[in-house]
Amino acid sequence: METMIIPSEDDKQMRLAAQIIRECGLVAFPTETVYGLGANALMSGAAEKVYAAKGRPSDNPLIVHLHDAGEAEKYAHVTPLFDKISSVYMPGPLTYILKKKPVIPDSVTGGLDTVGIRVPKNETANKLIRYSGVPIAAPSANLSGRPSTTAAAHVIADLYGRIDAIIDGGEAEIGLESTIIAEENGSVRILRPGAITVEMLRDLGCEVTLDKAVTERLSENERPLAPGMKYRHYAPRAEVTLLSGETGSINRYLLTFAGRSDTAVICYCEDEELTELSNAYVIGDRKDKKNTAHRLFSLLRELDGNSEIKYIYSSAPDTDGIGLAIFNRLVKAAGYRIIKV
Ligand code: TXA
Ligand code: MG
Repeated sequence: METMIIPSEDDKQMRLAAQIIRECGLVAFPTETVYGLGANALMSGAAEKVYAAKGRPSDNPLIVHLHDAGEAEKYAHVTPLFDKISSVYMPGPLTYILKKKPVIPDSVTGGLDTVGIRVPKNETANKLIRYSGVPIAAPSANLSGRPSTTAAAHVIADLYGRIDAIIDGGEAEIGLESTIIAEENGSVRILRPGAITVEMLRDLGCEVTLDKAVTERLSENERPLAPGMKYRHYAPRAEVTLLSGETGSINRYLLTFAGRSDTAVICYCEDEELTELSNAYVIGDRKDKKNTAHRLFSLLRELDGNSEIKYIYSSAPDTDGIGLAIFNRLVKAAGYRIIKV
């Protein structure tokens, strides 16, 4: 299949992309979190094409993207808590799980009776949804098992030739997927952490709890609330290990890998004893968590592209604010391997 590459500024081609979506085609598009692989959320055949293009198990539900939270009631049973949270954080990097209405085909929700609703803040995403006139079902635009894509070049690497079009809208601003929440007895349960943080939800007066799958490996017979959390999604080719403890001891441990071309050491600008190492990968300032979030997936892709690297070591980030989302992606990449030093 020939894949069209569409610049997001080209309004005529944006309308063509919208038509492709309407007519059951697949279009990758930028959002403020990561790139999405969009399909018409009202057509069950479209969802099946998404699963095939990604090589994704079809029991893993797709998020439905709307241009305005006011549209949600057409597709799901909205609640007072949804109204309260969506009035503040939608549009934004948030997905809200609600009971679905029958217009959303079962293939979109992997057979669940709920649907994830998200209103992206990104202007191109919003325009594509408005132009297409239908809700857009979209998972992250990566091959299953690869890191989510945060730039059009990543989407081209994974999906060129497998989908109809890719809209190039530059780098995704946040770089990590949306926060996914569900309601549980009047409180908010976080199924996947993201840029809408625990603290931001508590600021609204909500009681917030974390699904176990956010920080811990589930046993064989436990099922996470978000089916996607059970897959070892963010697994790079190399074996990843996280280190916890005092920064000084972590850095001394990391220094023992100096000169090892089979080992990548992920570190921060402040770690002066490490940044000069030939195998150091500097992710940015330790305090600038937004930048770490923004860089994480492209760094994992870069490391994946270097076949010499067999091992990756990084300190385990602290879990305040967006740190929880960074920790969650890294700990999954590490298969939950954390060494206390
Ligand atoms: O930021 C994002 O959320 C991006 C952009 C494109 O919007 N999308 C994204 O989609 O990350 P995906 O498919 O890679 O991840 C969706 C996650 C999966 O873990 C899936 O299991 C969960 O959302 N999910 C979707 N619908 C659900 C539902 N009804 N109940 C529970 N979990 C759901
Ligand atoms: Mg994904």
